[in-house]
Amino acid sequence: MNVCIIGTGYVGLVTGATLAELGNRVFCVDNNEEKIAILNRGEIPIYEPGLKEMIDTSRRAGRISFTTSIAEGVKDSAIVFIAVSTPPKPDGSADLSAVAAVAREVAENLNGYKVVVDKSTVPVKTGEKVAETIKRYSKEGSEFDVVSNPEFLREGSAIYDTFHPDRIVIGTSSQKAADLLIDLYKPLEAPVIVTDINSAEIIKHAANSFLATKISFANALARICEAAGANVEEVTRGVGLDHRVGDKFLNAGVGYGGSCFPKDVSAFISITEELGYDFRLLKEVERINEEQIDYFFRKIKETLWILEDQKVAVLGLAFKPNTDDMRNAPAIKIIKRLQAEGAKVRAYDPKAMETAREDLPDIEYCSDPYQAAEGAEALVILTEWNEFKEMNLDRMKELLHQPIVIDGRNIYDPERMVELGFTYRSVGR
Ligand code: UDX
Repeated sequence: MNVCIIGTGYVGLVTGATLAELGNRVFCVDNNEEKIAILNRGEIPIYEPGLKEMIDTSRRAGRISFTTSIAEGVKDSAIVFIAVSTPPKPDGSADLSAVAAVAREVAENLNGYKVVVDKSTVPVKTGEKVAETIKRYSKEGSEFDVVSNPEFLREGSAIYDTFHPDRIVIGTSSQKAADLLIDLYKPLEAPVIVTDINSAEIIKHAANSFLATKISFANALARICEAAGANVEEVTRGVGLDHRVGDKFLNAGVGYGGSCFPKDVSAFISITEELGYDFRLLKEVERINEEQIDYFFRKIKETLWILEDQKVAVLGLAFKPNTDDMRNAPAIKIIKRLQAEGAKVRAYDPKAMETAREDLPDIEYCSDPYQAAEGAEALVILTEWNEFKEMNLDRMKELLHQPIVIDGRNIYDPERMVELGFTYRSVGR
């Protein structure tokens, strides 16, 4: 099938790459000329394991191409995906101006029946607006259907997630459009839910908000466990083994970050408010998440006391492992707090140091964890990269000025750390 994907961010690029891998002819469109130039040079503007190799193969086979022209992408495609960003506005609601602009341009280029699919995460009722917009700006009698088909991929495992989705959600009132998408996704052999467009849009916001709720619940438990002398890992394991709860997304730490959870939770609060419901549960989820930064910073401060001129080594900057993404990374807030109190921060991250420079220009970037630790008063762990789990801790102890490890991701066994001679602080244990 011929498919056009508008927007070459995480979602657009990964969707394009996987659909091309499945044998479709994919036209990727973005209005950012620099991004398209990078992609046309054979490079990838983001880091995502396996993505470059997959795009290279499809490019050589002539199954994927990149252009700045919506007209070019739309004219030969049966399905047009909208995968542009929907960033938060200052009030927390989603900025849909890019979706609206794309819908209008797609409308102006319709030539025969097409299915326009919204893949961007959008508030409920956006699909209706997209359909109205297309109707308004397309030629009289143009045939199209609008579908909501939210994406659930995680950064760092985006390709695996796209090939092995837990479910595919198709929201539309048109059987013809649903059948076309069912056909497109058939090779994935995943469960498919066909529903109305509003329900599909709510599924996406509700799924991300529920996962964020699990994380905040675990972080609240961590605080309780710490006060009670219990161990949050044991507690969440004991709770999570109940199948009705599930053991995923119950890791306590420095809170959730990234380009989705913070944005989607606040967008869902805002849209539910517009719909007349005060979603106080989600407001509390947000509050717990913000408070987790204060709590962890206080932990560092209680351990080191006066931070002025203290060298602090930070391992991990990205909002999670296997990505170079720094959007809403807890590391930004924690490091800024350390710097505000006069600490000298040296940091290492396997992938995110280039992207981190914009938000964190005044830290010393190191070439490996050991260089970061040299002469530091404490080692602070903010992202759970495997590289840190496998470090030589004896060597680390020799290099640190004080053998203090403050672990925001609970990657080490507390007993072992004490045996090795560290002062070790973690979250909820
Ligand atoms: C998320 C959703 O998982 C995905 O379905 C959606 O499409 C986009 O948003 P992503 O933001 O890539 O994906 O990362 P995810 O792995 O979900 O982690 C989000 C944040 O939660 C990270 O900051 C992570 O560190 C944190 N987290 C996750 C925890 O603090 N504890 C956990 O138990 C799980």
